[in-house]
Amino acid sequence: MLVLGIETSCDETSVALVEDDKVVANLIYSQIATHKKFGGVVPEIAAREHLKTLPILFSELMDQSNVPIEQVDGIAVTKGPGLIGALLVGVSFAKGLALRYQKKLVGVNHIVGHVYANYLAYPQLKPPYIVLMVSGGHTLIMKVGGYEDIKIIGRSVDDAAGEAFDKISRLLGLGYPGGPVIDQLAKNGNSKAFSFTRPKIYDPDFDFSFSGLKTAVLYEINRLKKSGYTEETLPINDLAASAQEAILDVLLYKVTKAAKENGLKDIVLAGGVAANSRLRQKIDELSTQFNFYLPPLEFCSDNAAMIARAGIERLKLGYDDGLDIEPSPNFFEMMMQ
Ligand code: KG4
Ligand code: ZN
Repeated sequence: MLVLGIETSCDETSVALVEDDKVVANLIYSQIATHKKFGGVVPEIAAREHLKTLPILFSELMDQSNVPIEQVDGIAVTKGPGLIGALLVGVSFAKGLALRYQKKLVGVNHIVGHVYANYLAYPQLKPPYIVLMVSGGHTLIMKVGGYEDIKIIGRSVDDAAGEAFDKISRLLGLGYPGGPVIDQLAKNGNSKAFSFTRPKIYDPDFDFSFSGLKTAVLYEINRLKKSGYTEETLPINDLAASAQEAILDVLLYKVTKAAKENGLKDIVLAGGVAANSRLRQKIDELSTQFNFYLPPLEFCSDNAAMIARAGIERLKLGYDDGLDIEPSPNFFEMMMQ
């Protein structure tokens, strides 16, 4: 099955052609440079940028892949969660194409898309498995039994893990997005230099809380400054490494506990934070007890290939959402559908 994927839920405009588990082409235009100066994504600017970029990226995809649109079996578009203005651009464009070329159209849950990114690398992956979804907007532990059997068994009660990276990065004066910078600096830092608490780690549930960590980092910065450090001499690498270690410890403790309690050995990672190099190192140390599946770096961040891959699953189940698709920015509402 050959499917065109469209993703515009946040700050990446992306279009892709996926045939079964094979990515024919996947084009991503990141708006990070545009939003950077504001310290985060500005929703209205994101929507305007998608509007400008999406048609150009789509023509480029068609030219590059040399596949006539007539050969496509269906179109998959991100329906939510995400920024409403941004989602509207992708959904409207997809409806236009479906109408013009008389194609089946399915709306894909962005979170499910992140999970299915793994099938592009591991076609042999089979449910049931546990997912740790760690992005800028969500931190979730899910139990997956099949495409339509995805249960959230744990989530962050406040900031998402990626959001914690981004906020701590801002406190350290490192800009947006924080994850990649902290990842880099932490390589030259001592993760034991500061002992930040691991919030909720021993609670019986699978939930997370990361908002206290940024406050702890802020207090530490203030304490260091009072004891004579300046902006220039702050031990940024050690602070980055210690904060990163606290986030990763909690994530891995909870997801392995969820796998054990559910009698599962397969753990699938998804979302932007799954690109973290220290996380990948720590996972190696646990690989005798669990089988970890990590999406390739290019499919960790938002991309349309994962949306097309999840769309194939929905199309195979016989769905055609057609022109009824309504963008749904609210995450929990989406997971109920
Ligand atoms: O999944 P994603 O691309 O977008 C959504 O939020 O849907 O995730 C973006 C998040 C950002 O918070 C970013 O700081 C984080 O993923 N991130 C990382 C790394 N690369 C991106 N966090 C830690 N280490 C990284 N290497
Ligand atoms: Zn995402």
